[in-house]
Amino acid sequence: MTYSRITGTGSFLPEKVVTNSDLEKIVDTSDQWIQDRTGIKQRYIAGENETTCDLAEQAARRAMEAAGKGPGDIDLIVLATTTPDQIFPSTACLVQSRLDIHGCAAFDIQAVCTGFVYALSVADNFIRAGNATCALVIGAETFSRILNWKDRGTCVLFGDGAGAVVLEASEEPGILSTHLHADGDYAKLLHVPDGVSRGYDQVQQERAFVEMRGNEVFKMAINTLGRIVDETLAHNGLKKSDIDWLIPHQANYRIIRGIARKLQMPLERVVVTVAEHGNTSAASVPLALDVAVRDGRIKHGEMLLMEAFGGGFTWGSALVKY
Ligand code: ACO
Repeated sequence: MTYSRITGTGSFLPEKVVTNSDLEKIVDTSDQWIQDRTGIKQRYIAGENETTCDLAEQAARRAMEAAGKGPGDIDLIVLATTTPDQIFPSTACLVQSRLDIHGCAAFDIQAVCTGFVYALSVADNFIRAGNATCALVIGAETFSRILNWKDRGTCVLFGDGAGAVVLEASEEPGILSTHLHADGDYAKLLHVPDGVSRGYDQVQQERAFVEMRGNEVFKMAINTLGRIVDETLAHNGLKKSDIDWLIPHQANYRIIRGIARKLQMPLERVVVTVAEHGNTSAASVPLALDVAVRDGRIKHGEMLLMEAFGGGFTWGSALVKY
């Protein structure tokens, strides 16, 4: 039986830091409000000419270096993003060229904040089916580009960044299970209303940005993530206490704390980067994973539970033996 295993992680953040105090100068908000409601203290914002592909490339290089892999080893690239550089080619293809990788399948996945979990699941299935042996799985965003910087309800929440893993075929698991869900009936609670198919040259500026009914999204996120934790544990016949690390999507500290409580997990066993990174959408889970791998918290053989919730709505989880 073939499984897939994470053999290297990497991440990359832009240089520019925007603090809550910086945002106080742009919209009617306060450091206190943002920290109390979200736990966010700062976020990284891409430079003027810096794109999702730039961030993804650096994260991928670091993951490949950590795994000891060169361009010739990679035979699949799956990249999750809501903020691609171009309408086409896919950002996965752009990254492929930057990395001097040629010929293997490369494509983007769009599941907003759940994007990385979706991408990991797709790559895991390719490897299990024998259709790939060494995949690059990337979550990368320049979410700042689709924010309305006059809307205090959304612009304080998000940031830019990228995270990546190398996923290799292995006789030992690896990815134990992934669980993906979506319900498009909730599209309007969290969306960018306009898009290419509605008439590219007619897109109105204000409709090209994120709109969110935050309070309703918050309640759905808590309930849905609670359910997917139960689903993941039951599927694997595990107890809450079997999980060594929770690596949640970094949207809001209050949501993360709620899920940790449900798992009866002390917060020391939860990887929390939301204070420094804000919500980096598809990049948030692999970024958090890489931070905790590199600072030595996560060790080989430990059981990781990743979970995410995002626009669509989409939600998902991955149970991983690291
Ligand atoms: N600064 C100051 N006040 C603000 C701000 C701000 N940045 N934003 C909103 N407010 C005000 C509102 O106008 C409202 O004022 P009012 O009572 O006078 O009308 C008040 O604060 C309370 O607003 P709520 O929206 O009810 O505040 P809530 O406690 O729900 O917190 C928040 C808002 C932080 C957005 C929260 O709802 C949330 O985190 N929701 C989930 C969002 C999320 O996780 N989205 C991403 C998941 S999917 C993905 O990652 C793409």
